[in-house]
Amino acid sequence: MSYVTSFKMLEDAREGGYAIGAFNAENMEMVKAIIQAAEELKAPVMVQTSAKAIAYGTVATFEAMVRSEAERVSVPVALHLDHGDSEELCLQCLAGGYTSIMIDGSKLPYDENKAMTKRVAGMAKVLGIPCEAELGHVGGKAEDDNSKPDIYTDPEEARQFVEETGVTSLAVSIGTSHGFYKGVPVLDMERLSEIKAAVSVPLVLHGASGLSDEQVRECARRGICKVNFATELRDAYSRTVQKYFEKKPNVVDPKEYSREAMAAVKEIVKARILVCGCEGKAD
Ligand code: G3H
Ligand code: ZN
Repeated sequence: MSYVTSFKMLEDAREGGYAIGAFNAENMEMVKAIIQAAEELKAPVMVQTSAKAIAYGTVATFEAMVRSEAERVSVPVALHLDHGDSEELCLQCLAGGYTSIMIDGSKLPYDENKAMTKRVAGMAKVLGIPCEAELGHVGGKAEDDNSKPDIYTDPEEARQFVEETGVTSLAVSIGTSHGFYKGVPVLDMERLSEIKAAVSVPLVLHGASGLSDEQVRECARRGICKVNFATELRDAYSRTVQKYFEKKPNVVDPKEYSREAMAAVKEIVKARILVCGCEGKAD
């Protein structure tokens, strides 16, 4: 099955009432951990890289790593550009073999977001690649107050946005934010149901690190088909390396501590796949 676009896995999730886990990778170890976790649970999976990860590793390097790991497993694996912040980067990923992209114009005024998204979704369509966009804004804890409903997605605006841009999935703002939460996040579940009723394409939840299992399950029940996890994986990786060196400060072989970091990431990914309900959903 291996290296595929995200079209079918997201449509299947929409019809089946579960969500696909989308996991951010920063390096080879995380790519391997994510794909191995999915294979063990027979789950379709999305590996995603941010613009910063691409600046660190390059499109070609991530594409080669994910494709070659995907070709060694039986489950469908998509490689997604997460929060593509320019048309150039989206084009680079489309040309470079990514099988799914996101154009994020959510910080722009509505009309500018719509115009840029429409151009990128059009390019992606020609190449047969799915395109996610964001309406409303999911910020980071440091920069925004994410409990303000004025940055939440408006259901009617979402309907128009999807129809007019041709995007194939939509990221929504309902109270989540990126990074770990300081308090207990409160999600606007009614709004999510209203967006689901208004919009025909699969919906995406960003900022899932730190949400309770029940919150993730409830979001999937109400129409979320893709759930993004990044901070929890970075945290698991880094804390494991940190603890390793507390115990064994003289080790110099990166394989030694990276192996443990990889195992920690794999464990988190498996737990989140189970919460998303996509285990056993691979063809
Ligand atoms: O785009 C990536 C995600 O929305 C991840 O958010 O770092 O809070 O898990 P997170
Ligand atoms: Zn995000």
